Formats: sequence, structure tokens, C-alpha cells
Amino acid sequence: MLEIKNLNVTVEEKQILKNLNLNIGKGEVHAIMGPNGSGKSTIAHTLAGKPNYNVESGEVNLNGEDLLSKDPYERSLNGLFLAFQYPIELPGVTNASYLKQIVNAHRKSRKETPIDAGEFLKILKEKSKLLDIPMDMHSRFVNTGFSGGEKKKNEVLQMDLLDPSLIIMDETDSGLDVDALKTTADAINKLRNDERSFIIITHYLRLLEYIEPDYVHVFQNGSVIETGDKTLASRIDQEGYS
Ligand SMILES: Nc1ncnc2c1ncn2[C@@H]1O[C@H](COP(=O)(O)OP(=O)(O)OP(=O)(O)O)[C@@H](O)[C@H]1O
Ligand SMILES: [Mg+2]
Repeated sequence: MLEIKNLNVTVEEKQILKNLNLNIGKGEVHAIMGPNGSGKSTIAHTLAGKPNYNVESGEVNLNGEDLLSKDPYERSLNGLFLAFQYPIELPGVTNASYLKQIVNAHRKSRKETPIDAGEFLKILKEKSKLLDIPMDMHSRFVNTGFSGGEKKKNEVLQMDLLDPSLIIMDETDSGLDVDALKTTADAINKLRNDERSFIIITHYLRLLEYIEPDYVHVFQNGSVIETGDKTLASRIDQEGYS
């Protein structure tokens, strides 16, 4: 599904990703672990098309198509979803209106009519309940004044509403309390299927005990230095990176 070949990326003229190679098959869950500053978020931002992340060389193909030549919104319409490490606040835009608009943008790209208000509310209620998100949160401005954990859950809710084929989660577990971590992991597990792939960036074994990855990659200095199965995450948890 996703092929990353010899990817070199600079940010503000500093080389961050160095000859990165990574292949993700359909339905696979890949975890990326690695010390602070090793380039994990940079890979997430580069795949999503964040401006100022300059691809100097290399290729990225998603479902056989060149990803890097597409605008961020096209990448989203093509099935890529990034749950941010630091979700942004959008004062002035209510969460309900934002969520409805992203759903409708995706429907429009599939040449479908906008979602009916009643149907949207029903789906929003169902999916919010799954994540223990109170409905009154949707009448507030997007992420504005939300707690750290509430922002992370709101990212997972967006992911659930959009039905993406490649999900990148950048430290979605950081900031979640123990119960919220379990609730969120259950919601993520419900989204697992043979067609959908995940890249889960995390520092903690805890999440990977709930969402069992097929592969674990260790990032260091902008590239993958080791790949293993879920036992690699346990080893890192016990022994650290050094
Ligand atoms: N605009 C920038 N200018 C200079 N350096 C930058 C810039 N943006 C990112 N970097 C550097 O790139 C490196 C990789 O950052 P990145 O956010 O990808 O790390 P990370 O692995 O996600 O770390 P963490 O685990 O702390 O989230 C860091 O050393 C960071 O300081
Ligand atoms: Mg990061």
C-alpha cells in the first residue's frame, strides 16, 4: 500500500530524514518508536504534505500513485489521515460544523450528495459514544480549551468519520489517562481491517499491548535502524534505546 524509497527530507535546510525506506502492506499495523528528535513526526508531516518539509530526493507511492506530487487535501481525499501529535485549535469554528464539513468534502470528492443533518447527528452520537466524548463538546470551537486528552480523542473521532485507508497516528496515546487509553485503543481496534493500514508513532509499550502491531520499527537519526515484531517494543520498554 505504502512504499517509501530512499527518502531524504530537509526542514529549514537541516536534513532530518536520511535515506528512509519503509514498506507498509494492506491491513498491516506498523509501530514507529524512537528517541525524541529522531524524525518520527517529520515522516508523518512529510507524508501528509506539510509545507516547508522539503523532499530532496526519494519516492513515496500510496496505492501505486505518487503521493509527493499531490496537495495535502488530495492526499486526504486519497485515503491518508494524520492524527496530529499536537492538534491545532480553530477558534470560531464549532467542532460539529468542522466535522460535518470534512465529511462532506470527502463525500463531494466521491460525487455523493452532502450528508443529511439528522443522519450526521446520528453518526456523530454513535461514534462519540464509542470514544466517551460528550456531545456538548461539539458545540465548542475545534480543540479550543479542550484538555490534552480530549484533543487526542477528537483526532480519533475525525479518523473514524473519514474512513481512511492509511492512518498515521503521531503519539495519539500521549496525554490520555489509563481509561481513555483503553477506550481509544478499543475504537482504533474496531477500525482495523484487511484494507486499512496504520502507522502508529508512540513512546509507550502500553498502547501496543492494546493494539498489537505486526511490525515495530526503531527510528534513529532520521532512518529506521531496526525492525522487529511486537517483542521489540517490550525490549525497548525494558532496556531503553541506548
Ligand atoms: N523548523 C525546524 N528547524 C530546525 N529543526 C527542526 C525544525 N523542525 C524540526 N526540526 C528538528 O527535526 C528533528 C526531528 O523532529 P521530529 O519532530 O520529527 O522528532 P520526533 O522523533 O517526532 O520527536 P518527539 O518524540 O519528541 O516527538 C528535531 O531535532 C527537530 O528539532
Ligand atoms: Mg514527534
